[in-house]
Amino acid sequence: MIIAVDGPTASGKGTIARALADHFGLPVLDTGLLYRAVGYQTQLNHGDADNAADALAACDFPDDLLDDPALRYETTGGLASRVSVHPAVRKALLQRQLDFAGQPGGAVLDGRDIGTVIAPHADAKLFVTASAEERARRRHAEMLGRGVDIGYDAVLADIHARDARDTGRTEAPLLRAADAMLLDNSDMDVAEGIAAAIAFVAERVRRPS
Ligand code: DC
Repeated sequence: MIIAVDGPTASGKGTIARALADHFGLPVLDTGLLYRAVGYQTQLNHGDADNAADALAACDFPDDLLDDPALRYETTGGLASRVSVHPAVRKALLQRQLDFAGQPGGAVLDGRDIGTVIAPHADAKLFVTASAEERARRRHAEMLGRGVDIGYDAVLADIHARDARDTGRTEAPLLRAADAMLLDNSDMDVAEGIAAAIAFVAERVRRPS
């Protein structure tokens, strides 16, 4: 069974993807981490994330970079969003994602284009979102917990900028697949969001469309 989980930044899609993987006993791939690795490697190479050749050169990042805590930084998310607009970068990361999705038994993948490009035939697709204000509130609280305070307004501005770049790019933009369940968790707590996602997938598996 393949489960595709897409959605904008700070929507909680990663948490939901991991919970689905746990529940259904499937491996999970956070595809955003691959773009983060490319963005961060571009910086390590002193390249420019907006330059396609520099970003492409960073696609052969070493595997252990995926464990680097720096990939979780907010600044790395911004670099990831910038390198992800280049078609050559998306192409370079494609096979790795297809291989993961195609493993026997299936998988859960989360990202921006899983239900539309990577696994359009996924058995269940979710589009996880929340209002920009709520996502900024959560991201801000999480950053404060790590001792980082750039202010709520700066976090909200960053979220708007990332949404605009991720939805506005020509290649594989962030888009809800027509057959994806819309899970707006603005007014849900984490447990409620997870329960709704599990219920949807269980129903899909029982009665495939
Ligand atoms: O999910 P994330 O915040 O870790 O993703 C970081 C960036 O990577 C995101 O802003 C856009 C890009 N990305 C993408 O273009 N396609 C994906 N499948 C996953 C992430």
